[in-house]
Amino acid sequence: MFDRIAGFYDVMNSVMTAGLHHGWRRRAVDLARVAPGDRVLDVATGTGDLALELAARVAPGGAVVASDFSQEMLVRARAKAAGAPSPVTFECANAMQLPYGDGEFAAATVGFGARNFSDLDRGLREMTRVVRPGGTVVVLEITTPTRPPLSTFYRLWFDRVVPVIGRLAGDPEAYSYLPNSVKRFPGPHELAARMHGCGLDVRYVLTAGGIIALHVGTKRARA
Ligand SMILES: C[S@@+](CC[C@H](N)C(=O)[O-])C[C@H]1O[C@@H](n2cnc3c(N)ncnc32)[C@H](O)[C@@H]1O
Repeated sequence: MFDRIAGFYDVMNSVMTAGLHHGWRRRAVDLARVAPGDRVLDVATGTGDLALELAARVAPGGAVVASDFSQEMLVRARAKAAGAPSPVTFECANAMQLPYGDGEFAAATVGFGARNFSDLDRGLREMTRVVRPGGTVVVLEITTPTRPPLSTFYRLWFDRVVPVIGRLAGDPEAYSYLPNSVKRFPGPHELAARMHGCGLDVRYVLTAGGIIALHVGTKRARA
């Protein structure tokens, strides 16, 4: 499915969020507390926007590894990375079994990818494993707002508007999957608890009226 939507993924992101997703990514990278010279990982990188934001923050001297299991997403990501301020290596890898050693990275991020993990805890454990003690794991995700008026708008948007946009884009299945994947993803409090269970000390912020959750976990010395 991700191979299929790769060609119009960036446009759809900008249409569906009115361009706000760039600001959310910048916020995610702020929370990752990365510094020049750091080596960092972006998991389920898609077309690489979060990886490119990381590349700007680890320059000079740092490097980004960005992985995804969709080859078509990676083709788009590589095309966007020419001239990035730090080296970005895009690799095909499954988040369920990351091909990296323990503690290799200063931080690991995932943007709008965790809700697609077939096993969320396994994905979070893998991200925690490859980060050094004291390093950070950041999860940027859509979440379900609980209070009106945003909760009402959100239901209309995801249940009515997004599937129509998907039909217009020629892939109704992919864009009815999106609202369903958001609905079954744990709420912010539960996600924090699940990350804690993986060896992280966690805090989170909600933004965009409660539609976007940014969780940051710091890896405990004994994760
Ligand atoms: C909604 S896109 C998000 C892309 C990007 N991170 C962003 O911020 O726009 C979800 C991505 O997760 C990837 N993905 C889902 N499950 C994965 C897994 N187990 N291993 C690697 N990539 C995965 C998909 O291929 C897709 O590119």
